Amino acid sequence: MIELRNVNKTYNGKVKAVDNLNLKIEKGEIFGFLGPNGAGKTTTIKMITGIINTDSGSITINDVDIEKNPIEAKRQFGFVPDDPNIFLRLKGIEYLNFMADIYNVSSADRKERIDSLSKRFEMENAIGDPIQSYSHGMRQKIVIMGVLVHNPNVWILDEPLTGLDPKSSFLLKEMMREHTQSGKTVFFSTHVLEVAEKICDRVAVINNGRILFCGTLEEMKNHFKGESSLEKMFLEMTGNED
Ligand SMILES: Nc1ncnc2c1ncn2[C@@H]1O[C@H](COP(=O)(O)OP(=O)(O)OP(=O)(O)O)[C@@H](O)[C@H]1O
Ligand SMILES: [Mg+2]
Repeated sequence: MIELRNVNKTYNGKVKAVDNLNLKIEKGEIFGFLGPNGAGKTTTIKMITGIINTDSGSITINDVDIEKNPIEAKRQFGFVPDDPNIFLRLKGIEYLNFMADIYNVSSADRKERIDSLSKRFEMENAIGDPIQSYSHGMRQKIVIMGVLVHNPNVWILDEPLTGLDPKSSFLLKEMMREHTQSGKTVFFSTHVLEVAEKICDRVAVINNGRILFCGTLEEMKNHFKGESSLEKMFLEMTGNED
């Protein structure tokens, strides 16, 4: 569960990136965070994950406050950032073991998970190579594997499908579904409306730092009577601002 209460963030005293945001993501749901470029999605995710602080308001993950109790809060989630260019000098397997070490994963669990994830993501032949030598999609896969190796309760992903080929993208969606079926939570941002439409239990649409809609797609359709495609509803919502 993730809860944001009256969260605000302004950059350099002028750009109001997040404006009094309230959001509650429940246990067991896949929650999509939609919005155009510059809407405030990454800023919100960076505050949830404790990469940057809020100006005001509070954020809890499984009832643990990210600013008051950051280490305990960070134990609750795994995070896939929008840029997978991290730890390039490590080999894939070194990175996975590093993540498993940080999160105290037992050697039996890590072996089983690394074997199974490498197979599913078809990375068996690559994990012995440095991440530097990976393609963009492979770098994304290793970051995703690094999160799943510690099997977090809450999974947070910023634009996770960008750069993945159709097979990997399908696999990731399948894994998100599996993750929530065991009562865990998935929160991810995307531009790809079809993805949101297919796999999200609920979505929020953000523009100019403000939430314009939060609910199920069914509720969104009822709200926009007559519009059947998410794309049209999205364009109508984000185009009529100001
Ligand atoms: N480090 C920063 N310094 C100043 N302004 C920033 C910074 N990061 C983001 N912004 C501004 O904050 C606003 C929200 O940006 P953010 O990155 O959160 O959007 P986003 O919804 O993730 O967009 P995208 O879909 O392009 O990833 C934008 O106006 C952006 O220019
Ligand atoms: Mg972003």
